[in-house]
Amino acid sequence: MSVFSESLQAKIQSFLTRYETKRSAILPVLHAIQDEHGWVSEPQIEELHHTYGLDRVHVKEVISFYDIYKDHPVRKYQIRYCKNLTCHMLGAREAICRIKEHITALDAQLGEDGPFSLEEFPCLGKCDGAPVMLVNKERVEHATVDRVDEILAKYAPLPKL
Ligand code: FES
Repeated sequence: MSVFSESLQAKIQSFLTRYETKRSAILPVLHAIQDEHGWVSEPQIEELHHTYGLDRVHVKEVISFYDIYKDHPVRKYQIRYCKNLTCHMLGAREAICRIKEHITALDAQLGEDGPFSLEEFPCLGKCDGAPVMLVNKERVEHATVDRVDEILAKYAPLPKL
């Protein structure tokens, strides 16, 4: 029995046939797995190896090379906040501090079930919307400190700080 849903199996298969070599399909395959599960587990890597012919060592190398791929469980909402120059000059540091305060308060209540995680990223490639953050795949521009509470509250109830 597969560790992947039927629709995910079909997606993986279609990626593998779309590219000249199976190895070339690794990035979209990992994206599809993460879209459905949030991260890539050891049993999934084994199935990619045995059923789909993707070398397990190469899969693990790709996962560890790119920050975007995760080999451990992740929170429901992964925040990536740009810390590069333009965003920094337009208030990223203050906004990141506010986000951290909320995460700390939520984690104090909920522990590992807290809804948010935060990573600081180099450039998110949308400097004209600085400061910029991603919440999973949704990009939020002009994410200044005065908007942080309103932005996060769209995803999960926030404790009073
Ligand atoms: S500097 Fe922040 S998106 Fe480019």
